Amino acid sequence: MQRTVQAYFDDAAESYHQAYQTEQDPFRAHIFLTRVRLVLELLRTSQGRVLDAGCGPGVLVAELAARGWDVWGLDAAPAMLAQARQRVRGTVEAQRIHWLLGDVEHLGLGEQVFDAVVCAGVMEYLETDEAVLRELRRVLKAGGTLIITVPNACSPFNLCDRFLMTIARGAAHMAAWVTKGRYRPRQASERLAFRRDLVDRHYLPPRLDQMVQRHGFQKISGRYQSYFSSLSKYLWPSLAFRLAQKGEALSRIPAFAWWGTGYVAQFVKCA
Ligand SMILES: C[S@@+](CC[C@H](N)C(=O)[O-])C[C@H]1O[C@@H](n2cnc3c(N)ncnc32)[C@H](O)[C@@H]1O
Repeated sequence: MQRTVQAYFDDAAESYHQAYQTEQDPFRAHIFLTRVRLVLELLRTSQGRVLDAGCGPGVLVAELAARGWDVWGLDAAPAMLAQARQRVRGTVEAQRIHWLLGDVEHLGLGEQVFDAVVCAGVMEYLETDEAVLRELRRVLKAGGTLIITVPNACSPFNLCDRFLMTIARGAAHMAAWVTKGRYRPRQASERLAFRRDLVDRHYLPPRLDQMVQRHGFQKISGRYQSYFSSLSKYLWPSLAFRLAQKGEALSRIPAFAWWGTGYVAQFVKCA
């Protein structure tokens, strides 16, 4: 894995942990919690072992353990795992959770050990999809469930955000050049969308489906989530949150569902 990705998520661990707290950042919490809810809806049973590959601050891990799964939470960023451990410390669920520091592209786990694998918001930070899909398939039992979530490249909200970020990046470079380096938007430049040294890919959902199926999976369902520009929260956070909440209704209208900024796909491993 890229060292810069691990370093970024180590630095961002505290902010990711807070991102799940509605009172701290309602807009981001809405997006993250909607993703967790969708994954839980797709993993309706609670039988057996599940791997959360790239578990971040462990919110999904805790929810899965609370529903009776034996959960393995794996992440490459030690600070993320520390947040995750802290989240469940002292709870009954903690006994059903195994934490692993590791790389989703080289899992180092046995073959066919999991009934389900979740990879939520991780693949976009990898250079390629081949190694991770091979590894996820290898550790999953035949007939097991794979759930992947990625940013949706077709979403008008994502397209709009990317366009605005390109302009903002250009303006920042221009300002630094004009002021001979005296002006540097340091805070903004630390944000993921601002950085050029990090991989942050968006996916065309039909392409993702085809690719995963080529790796020996069958698609079961695909859902979309989060219907609002992420940048809007910097302008008017409370309004952005309310509109994002209401926007979720679009996921139930087939003509608009694909506008969602996130794509959540469910597959089963073919024998
Ligand atoms: C956007 S966060 C998502 C976390 C979690 N899945 C969630 O939905 O809250 C991405 C996580 O993937 C982890 N990650 C990125 N590349 C990884 C890799 N190659 N192996 C393991 N974890 C990785 C990061 O450390 C980070 O915790």
